[in-house]
Amino acid sequence: MTIVTPELIEAGDDAVVVRTAARLRGSPALPGDKSISHRALLLALLAKGSSRLSGVSDGEDVRTTARVIAALGARVERVSVDDGRSTYVVTSAGLDALREPSGVLDCGNSGTTTRLLAGVLAASGSFAVLDGDASLRSRPMGRIAEPLRRMGASIDGRAGGTLLPLAIRGRPPLTAIRHAAPVPSAQVKSAVLLAGLRASGRTAVVEAVATRDHTERMLRARGVTVRETTDGEHGHIVEIDGGAAVSPLDDAVPADVSAAAFWLVAGAAHADAELTLRDVTVNPTRRAVIDLLRRMGADIEERRVTGADARGDRNEGEPIADLVVRSSALHAIDISPAEVAAAIDEIPILCLAAAVAAGTTTIRGAGELRHKESDRIAGIAAGLTALGARIRVAGDDIEIEGGPQLRGATLETHDDHRLAMTFAIAGLIAEGETVVRRPGSAAISYPGFFSQLEGVRR
Ligand code: S3P
Repeated sequence: MTIVTPELIEAGDDAVVVRTAARLRGSPALPGDKSISHRALLLALLAKGSSRLSGVSDGEDVRTTARVIAALGARVERVSVDDGRSTYVVTSAGLDALREPSGVLDCGNSGTTTRLLAGVLAASGSFAVLDGDASLRSRPMGRIAEPLRRMGASIDGRAGGTLLPLAIRGRPPLTAIRHAAPVPSAQVKSAVLLAGLRASGRTAVVEAVATRDHTERMLRARGVTVRETTDGEHGHIVEIDGGAAVSPLDDAVPADVSAAAFWLVAGAAHADAELTLRDVTVNPTRRAVIDLLRRMGADIEERRVTGADARGDRNEGEPIADLVVRSSALHAIDISPAEVAAAIDEIPILCLAAAVAAGTTTIRGAGELRHKESDRIAGIAAGLTALGARIRVAGDDIEIEGGPQLRGATLETHDDHRLAMTFAIAGLIAEGETVVRRPGSAAISYPGFFSQLEGVRR
């Protein structure tokens, strides 16, 4: 492999050039977990009183949620910013006193904002119109509109109310339903549970595969009873009783394991690397990427911190650990549809790991990746192929034959943050120069990512 002087070149606004790194060392500053940050802000809107939230992601998606809760009447103060993490104080009159927003609520690029907010609006008496960017306008919203309508909310929009913009009028008290989710989705589960806060009776969501459980944990920490059972016939069932009040809570958001995943793959795949990732959520419903990489032979050490971050701020309910990753000899594995659901946001970066692993990795049942910020199956297949990897897509299955040395190429991100970061990490290990086109979307979930990329080169 030719090792060129490590550096990152800004090639105009529209591209960055990433060159091979000789060594990777250090502890990149991670953003706050995106899923937990969205929920911390939204639940602070639902609670009557003040909540102090530290470690919140400064990513554009979470800033969108902060703007939206302000439009719904919360007083949102961003009291400090430290290393790309913000502390907010949110003061609200609570779920039953939301302000009717005077204009359209712009949800930007954020599916989580849109879908969770739809559940909140259904539970409130307010009327609001939700819209977003071109990517969000193409993403499926029927999956939340259908159960929320069954609960009694009125929802209309393009394509029979399945695409943004959506006009939503909540009509509490709603009807409690039992919703069997056709696709595993924490966003849909959360929307229905949040609407269930103002349903008469017990609302249940039945999932074939248990999805991330932050909403459940965070509601419990805020005084709401949420029951979970697993039964062999139906799968995982989550239930909530209507009428509960959400209490305000001071909470600390741990670092994002989905952001850590980029460094875990960089560290494991690079020949001379040791990287430390601090205060990462290792919630059992989020940690699949760590366990899949270990199954591929990645040397990842987990130093348990549990419950509090390095600053001593406590998180109410999420297990937290420091992770250390070192250069590893990776080998192929088979990833099942249930594992795809558990590592849904990490599949692009896992595809890169597979491209440098010995043997053929299969990823089955990955169709949901077509409905993310871009068609991630098409995007990752095109990018890895350009880098010289052997990747085949058959229906919803992906097969990656690892091994060949990756060679720098020009890669299209389709303005998708996870593709932009995957391709930048590829640039650290590929020979020569990798041009990442339109990399700015990284700031959706990881502002500062490209300066961290320079910072780990030694
Ligand atoms: C999220 C759930 C997942 C994930 C997204 C965040 C959440 O989406 O892809 O990045 O915070 O609930 P789906 O619920 O659509 O699978």
